Amino acid sequence: MIQVIDNNFAIQTKNTTYAFRVLPTGQLEHLYYGTKITLRSADDFGALCEQYAMAPGNTVAYDEKNNISLENIRFELSSYGKGDIREPYIDIKYPDGSRTSDLIFEEAHVLTEKHMYDTLPCSYDDGTFTKMPTQTLKITLKDRSHDVRLELYYSNFLETDVITRQTVLVNETKECIVINRIMSNQIDFEDSGYVFSSFSGAWAREMNRKDTILNGGKIVNSSYTGTSSNRANPFVMISRPGTDEDKGDCYGFNLVYSGNHYECMEISGFNKTRFVQGINPETFEYRVNAGERFEAPEAVMTFSDKGFNGMSHGLHTFVREHIVRGFWKHLNRPVLINSWEACYFDVTERKLLNLARKAKDAGIELFVLDDGWFGTRDDDTTSLGDWIANASKLPGGLEGLSHKIRSLGMNFGIWVEPEMVNEKSHLYKRHPEWVLKNPNTPHSTGRNQMILDLGQQIVRDYMIDSMSEVFSSGEISYVKWDMNRNISDYFSQDENINAGEVAHKYVLGLYDVMKTLSERFPEILFEGCSSGGNRFDLGILSYFPQIWASDNTDPVCRATIQNGLSYGYPQSVIGAHVSASPNHQTLRRTPLNTRFNVASMGLLGYELNLGDLTSEENKAIKDEITLYKALRDTLQWGELYRGRNFDDSEYTEWTIVAPDKSKAVTILIQNQVKPNMPMRKVYIKGLDPARRYTLKNVEQKQNLRDFGDLINNISPVHIKQDSWVYHALDRLKKLDGEKEQISGYGDSFAKAGVFLKQGFAGVGFNDEVAYFQDHCSRMYITETEE
Ligand code: GLA
Repeated sequence: MIQVIDNNFAIQTKNTTYAFRVLPTGQLEHLYYGTKITLRSADDFGALCEQYAMAPGNTVAYDEKNNISLENIRFELSSYGKGDIREPYIDIKYPDGSRTSDLIFEEAHVLTEKHMYDTLPCSYDDGTFTKMPTQTLKITLKDRSHDVRLELYYSNFLETDVITRQTVLVNETKECIVINRIMSNQIDFEDSGYVFSSFSGAWAREMNRKDTILNGGKIVNSSYTGTSSNRANPFVMISRPGTDEDKGDCYGFNLVYSGNHYECMEISGFNKTRFVQGINPETFEYRVNAGERFEAPEAVMTFSDKGFNGMSHGLHTFVREHIVRGFWKHLNRPVLINSWEACYFDVTERKLLNLARKAKDAGIELFVLDDGWFGTRDDDTTSLGDWIANASKLPGGLEGLSHKIRSLGMNFGIWVEPEMVNEKSHLYKRHPEWVLKNPNTPHSTGRNQMILDLGQQIVRDYMIDSMSEVFSSGEISYVKWDMNRNISDYFSQDENINAGEVAHKYVLGLYDVMKTLSERFPEILFEGCSSGGNRFDLGILSYFPQIWASDNTDPVCRATIQNGLSYGYPQSVIGAHVSASPNHQTLRRTPLNTRFNVASMGLLGYELNLGDLTSEENKAIKDEITLYKALRDTLQWGELYRGRNFDDSEYTEWTIVAPDKSKAVTILIQNQVKPNMPMRKVYIKGLDPARRYTLKNVEQKQNLRDFGDLINNISPVHIKQDSWVYHALDRLKKLDGEKEQISGYGDSFAKAGVFLKQGFAGVGFNDEVAYFQDHCSRMYITETEE
C-alpha cells in the first residue's frame, strides 16, 4: 500500500514502512525506514519529524524566512550549495556555470503499476507473483532556479518487502546541462554506529563479506573497472551491531546496473548517517541536451528485523520474480558439462565428443563448448572478434558438432566473448576505430584484448549481427557470455562521446545488445560471466537468468564465495561446477562429494575430464547427478538459510527448504579437522516448527586408503602404505560410512540443532563414527513424516 496524506508519504510493504514528507521549505524530508508502523493521519507522521527551532551555530541558514540548516536534516535527496555539506545526491553543472541545485516538491501521484525505464533495465511486475499490481509513487521536483525537473519513482514490491527507487532527470532548459553526479538512492538515518557490510575481493576470490562499524568519517564501496566488479559488488548491507543471520535489524541495498558504481556511508557532524548509492561519480561527466531525460539506475532496498536470512529471503524472491525474466524464469536449469577446465583452448571434435559421451552416461543434460573453438584461438592472444569456427578443430563447424551432441541426447551450448577484440584478429584490422582507445597514446590491454566501444551504434549493430549468426549456426540452446577485462583508457574514438560518458554509454550499449539478442533468441539459456564474478549484478540478471560466480571452483573457496553471494542473490542464479582435484586454481585436494555438495547449492555443472576419472568416480558422479535431479526443485527454488560460515567457524552450513516445507536439504562443510572437538551438530532452519521431520544423511562409503598406515591396526599382516596390495585392497573393500536417522520437530531442529555421529578423532573407527576430516562435508535430507 502507498499512503499519501497531505504532504506525507508512506510505502507500506508486508513487514516494513518507508516514510517521508515535504518540508515547509519544499525539499523532501526522510522520516522513517524500518519495521512496519501504523500511520493513519498527518499527526501520526508528525511524531516521526525532528523538531527544528533554529539553525545550529556555524551552519548555513536556508533563507531569511526559514532559519533551518539543511546540514542537519534527513533528506530523500540532497545537493550541494544550500548548506548541506554531506554526500550529495545530485551535482549538475548548469549553463550559467552554477553547480547549486535546490529541488523542490511539485506534485505526487500514485501509479497503479510498476514504472519502467526506456534506456536501462529495471525490475518489473508481470502479475504472476503479486496478488495486486505493484504500485508506484511518483514524485516530481523542480529546481528552484533552473528548468530542471527530477522524477522519483518508488515502487512497492509489497510481498517481498522490497522497495525500488528510480530517478529521472529532465532537462527542460534550452541548453545542455552536465551531470557530474546523480545517485539512485539515499537514506539518511537519524543516528550512527551502523555496520556497513560490503562484498569485496578480486579474480577467483570474489564476495568476501567485510564489516565496518562507522561512527565517524565515511566509507566507500565502489568500482572503476567498467563493470560492477569482483573488487566490490554493488550489493551492500547496513545493520545494527549484533545482527546475525536470524535476528536483528538490517537493510540490503543493490543497484540494477553493471557499470561503475558507488556506495558511500557518511557520518555527519550531527551524528547522522547518510547512505548514497548510484553510478560512480568518479570522472563521470554526462551531457543532457535540452529536452532530454536521463535515467539513473534503479535502486533496490529492503529491510528486515529478522536478521540477514530474513533480509535475503525478500531479496531472493524479488530477484527470482521481478528481475529474472523470460522463458527460463521459472524453469529448472539443466546439469551441464563445460569444456574449459577439461580442455582449455585445446578443443577438437574428437575430444569434445569423448567428453560428451561420458557426460551423457553420467546423466548430464547440456554440453557447453567453452573458449577455443573459433578463429585461430589456441591461446588468449588471438581471434576474439572472429566468430567463425576453426575448421581443423571442428570440421563440421558448430552446426556439425551441435547435431552430434544432440544425437547423443544432450543439448548444446557455446561460449562467446562478444564485447572484446584481440589486436590479432581480422575484426581489429578492419575496424581499429571500433575499440575504446586513444589513438594518440599507448593503449593498455588486459588478457591481450581490447574492448569494443558499445557506445557506437555501428559497433552494436555489428555485434548483434555477428552474434545472431553464431547463435543460429547450429542447435544452440545455451550461451555463456563472457567479458574478461576491465576498462582502462576511457576514450571513445567517436567524437560524440566524451571521456566522462564512455563508461555509462558502454553499459547502455551493452544492455541494448543483450536485450535485442535475448529477445531474438528467447529460448536460449544465457549465462553471464566476467572472468567469473566480475559482473555479478542485477543488470545482467535482467537479461541473463544466471551468472558464473567465480573462476575458482575449489569448494572450500566456493563456500565463502557462494555464501557471500547468497546475501543478495538466490541460488537459482549462481553457476557452480564440480571440477578436478587437485583444483586448478588452488591445487587443493578435496573429496568429490564436497565438490558436489557445494556445487549443488548453486546451479550444478561439471567442468573436468570425466574420461580421466576412475570408474568408481564416474559411478559416484552418476549417483550424485541422480540425487541432484531428484532434489532439483527444492535445491534450485527453495528458500536458502545460512548457518555458520568459515569467517567465524570451522563449518559452513546451508539449508534449502522446499516451498511447502515438506523437505529440506542441508550441507555442512568442515574446514579443518581437530581431534577431540565438541560433538558435531547441524541446524536445520526454516522448517515448519510444528511439523515432525526425519533427518538422514546421504551416506558416504569410506576408502581404506584414507586411513593410510592405520589400516595395519586391523590388518592381520602388515601392508605397506601405497603398495600395490594396499591399492588393490582399497579398490576391493569399501567401509560403510555413518548412517544418521534422527526425528524431531521443526522448531527443535532449527533452535536446538541435531547432534551428529562423532567424527573420527584418532581413537578408532566403525560405522558409528563419521570420517569427517579436512574439507569433508555431508548432505542431509530432512523430510516430514508421512
Ligand atoms: C574466463 C571465464 C572462464 C572461461 C575462460 C575462457 O576466464 O571466466 O570460465 O570461460 O574465460 O577463456
